Amino acid sequence: MDVTEVDCTTPNAARIYDYDLGGEHNFAADRAASEEIQRTVAPTGPFIARANRAFLQRAVRFCLDQGIDQFLDLGSGIPTVGNVHEIAQDRQPGARVLYVDVEPVAVATTRHLLEGNDHAGVVHADVRDPDAVLDSPEAASLLDFSRPVALLTVAVLHYITPQEQTRMHRYREVLAPGSAVVISTLTADERAEEAERVERFFAENADTQVTFRTRDEVLALFDGTELVSPGVVWTPQWRPDPADPAGWEPHRAGCWAGVGLVREP
Ligand SMILES: C[S@@+](CC[C@H](N)C(=O)[O-])C[C@H]1O[C@@H](n2cnc3c(N)ncnc32)[C@H](O)[C@@H]1O
Repeated sequence: MDVTEVDCTTPNAARIYDYDLGGEHNFAADRAASEEIQRTVAPTGPFIARANRAFLQRAVRFCLDQGIDQFLDLGSGIPTVGNVHEIAQDRQPGARVLYVDVEPVAVATTRHLLEGNDHAGVVHADVRDPDAVLDSPEAASLLDFSRPVALLTVAVLHYITPQEQTRMHRYREVLAPGSAVVISTLTADERAEEAERVERFFAENADTQVTFRTRDEVLALFDGTELVSPGVVWTPQWRPDPADPAGWEPHRAGCWAGVGLVREP
C-alpha cells in the first residue's frame, strides 16, 4: 500500500501516537480517536506516548555510551522531533539508522525527512517478516551486522502477538556481541480495567489490535542478554532524566521498559 491508498477515515495507532506526541502527521479520525481515548478509555494517553518517547531517547543515548553507533528501529513510527537518527547523529555524525514501519504515512514522512542523509534510511515492511527487513538493500547498505547494533522494539510489540513474535527470532540471531536489545511494550499490570477498555477500543475502532504483556513476559524477552540496571521498570523509571515528562505516577505510563546487552556466547 502506498500513501495515496491510506484509509484516512479509520484511526490508526501510528497516527494516534503522532497526535499524542504533538505531531502533525495525522487525520481527523486519528485526532478524534485520541480525544475519545483520553475522555472515556485512558486519560493518560498522551503521557503514555511521551513517557515512551522519552525512554526511547534515553535508551539511544545509553547505547551510544556503550559505543554502539548502528540502530535498527522496528516500528519506528511517524517522525517527530527527537528521532533516533537526530539523537544518534547529533553525538556521532557517522551513526547509522535504519527505520522500519508498515504504516505508509510513517514511511513517506520518514523518507522525506531523511532526504540527503546518507547514514539513515527507511524500509516499508512488516517487522514480523525479518527477511524483508534484513535482506533489504537498505539494510545491506546501512548496517554492518559484524559489529554491534541496537535493536529497538519500542512501543511496537503490543501490536504483535506472542505467536507472531516467534517469527522475529532472526533479528536476535544476527546481533553481534556488544549489541543491545531495547524494548518497551504496553501492559495491563496495575491497570487491568483501563487496559481492557483500551483493548476493546482498538478492536472496535482501529485497524490495529493490541496485546498486553506482563512484566514476567517482558523479562523473558531479554533471555540471552545481560539486562542492564535498573532492569524492567515503568518507562519513566528507566534511568530518568530531569527533562522527562511528569505529572502522573510511573505506572500510569502503561509500558514496561528495559535494555539488554548481547554478550559473547
Ligand atoms: C506507537 S508507535 C511507536 C513509534 C516509536 N517506536 C516510538 O516508540 O516512539 C508504533 C509503530 O509501530 C508500527 N507497527 C505496528 N505494527 C507493525 C508491524 N507489524 N510492522 C511494522 N511496523 C508496525 C506502527 O505503524 C507505528 O508506527
